[in-house]
Amino acid sequence: MGELTAEGRRGERGKTIHGEAANAGHRVLAPDDAEVEAYLEVALDAPPPARTADDRPTPDTVLVLDFGSQTAQLIARRVRELHVYSELLPYDTPWPEIAARRPRGVILSGGPASVYEPGAPRPDPRLWTGGLPVLGICYGLQLMASELGGNVVPAEKREYGPATIDVTDSDGLLHGLRAEEPVWMSHGDAIVTPPPGFAALAKTTSTPFAGLADRERRLFGIQFHPEVVHTPAGRDILRNFVLGLCGASPSWTPASFIETAVADIRGRVGEGRVICALSGGVDSAVAATLVHRAVGDQLTCIYVDHGLMRKRESELLRETFERNLGMNLLMVDARERFLARLAGVDDPEEKRRRIGDEFIRVFEEEAGRIGRIDFLTQGTLYPDVIESTAPETKAAQKIKTHHNVGGLPADLRFELIEPLRYLFKDEVRAVGIELGLPEQMVMRQPFPGPGLAIRIIGEVTAQRLDTLREADWIVIDEIKAAGLYRRLWQSFAILTPVRSVGVMGDVRTYANVVAVRAVTSEDGMTADWAKLPYDVLAKISSRIVNEVPGVNRVVYDISSKPPATIEWE
Ligand code: XMP
Repeated sequence: MGELTAEGRRGERGKTIHGEAANAGHRVLAPDDAEVEAYLEVALDAPPPARTADDRPTPDTVLVLDFGSQTAQLIARRVRELHVYSELLPYDTPWPEIAARRPRGVILSGGPASVYEPGAPRPDPRLWTGGLPVLGICYGLQLMASELGGNVVPAEKREYGPATIDVTDSDGLLHGLRAEEPVWMSHGDAIVTPPPGFAALAKTTSTPFAGLADRERRLFGIQFHPEVVHTPAGRDILRNFVLGLCGASPSWTPASFIETAVADIRGRVGEGRVICALSGGVDSAVAATLVHRAVGDQLTCIYVDHGLMRKRESELLRETFERNLGMNLLMVDARERFLARLAGVDDPEEKRRRIGDEFIRVFEEEAGRIGRIDFLTQGTLYPDVIESTAPETKAAQKIKTHHNVGGLPADLRFELIEPLRYLFKDEVRAVGIELGLPEQMVMRQPFPGPGLAIRIIGEVTAQRLDTLREADWIVIDEIKAAGLYRRLWQSFAILTPVRSVGVMGDVRTYANVVAVRAVTSEDGMTADWAKLPYDVLAKISSRIVNEVPGVNRVVYDISSKPPATIEWE
């Protein structure tokens, strides 16, 4: 195992699998599963998932070409909310690859470039004559205008933020909209002459071409963003395009996904043997359940109980998978081993490194005992697949720099099965519910792979784990009782090494301080401390002090990210 760098030893967080200190720029959707998967990918030296044109989950697809907009993924999600499968592809995807997916239509996202700049991103020009309905959004519209003979110039005034459109033609794309609609604009260029064949659909005070259409060629464009919540009619516009103008059928549902996924897995696995590492997180749980539905006892799940989980989590896992679903579950009690590896360690990065390394060792030993294995199931999600084109954001790459792990023996090579690789997180949850997994597992807040170890400041011991587990249980219990659990990104307790004086009855105490952290966040990259009601905080505090031995003081963390991180270590 490599040494910590001097930089890491200086007490900084250093690099984690989430990227630079404070996670600059990395999306973490399911930290626990991402972490477990990263361990395995490193060990397996597995190649990143390949994207092929013929493994689509459903025939009715609307493609989104990504021109670099921050909201490109959001467009795909909005289309899927209409129950039509949507996929994000790079803007320069060659036409034959687009056509091979037999999409019902194509949406061009916005983007930061200007169409008249040299080297501005452009799609394969066959898109304009391919006969598919195309909707250009913002940069996508300007591209359409300039590529097809219109004129786009820098606007006199950059338009950013709320605006109002006057709908001048509500037939088709803008069907059902009111005469005036609030929209969200973000652009610095303006169309001065639309291309031949195009007519205006809407205008604003700053542009007569807020919407354009060439109905004959089925080419449409809007200057504003229908995918963001600040455009209330955005959903209607996307529905008009996807269901109306493209004629896609709304058949993308959890049930239809499960049916196709199960058939695919069955076809691929045949008589083979499959393993899956369960982490306690939703992604691996859903992936394993799909594979189990497809091939039953040919699947063996491995759960490494590192003793760093929260109260009752391991029991819930056993109950769900072994008792209710009847799966082959190898539950490895590795609690002593992890504790031994963590003894005397108080540096956060060193804790992470040792946990990752030990995880691989235990997993290797167990996998070795199973005998022949043909496939490994991973809960990789769609955002990871999209981002895997940028290697520096890939979890496995990040962890490589940290976890100097050995790799499985050469005779233990499997193929990957990734049944969730075309799903967004909220879709995974919907599939989990449809599969009958317990809500407690499916709706769980993110939980870091190294578990409670990075919420105990200083050395991790069995006793300190017990203390934190009890305090954490109370936090979650009260947050749930107050109906706040799902509104928070994360809520948990931290065991600090600080001891303070208190009185209990007539007795003076000198005991630990527990901190409570609750944050709201979209994706974990930035976060706000949650303004929890005082009575909820009061209940949490009095219960912890009264029910958890060794704790006599509770504080609430009122730091946002940045500059603080969500976890304390
Ligand atoms: P921070 O603390 O960096 O956390 O603001 C952002 C998100 O990442 C999670 N996190 C981790 N997840 N292994 C994980 O699997 C880790 O080492 C780790 N550190 C932080 C954290 O819980 C939050 O959701």
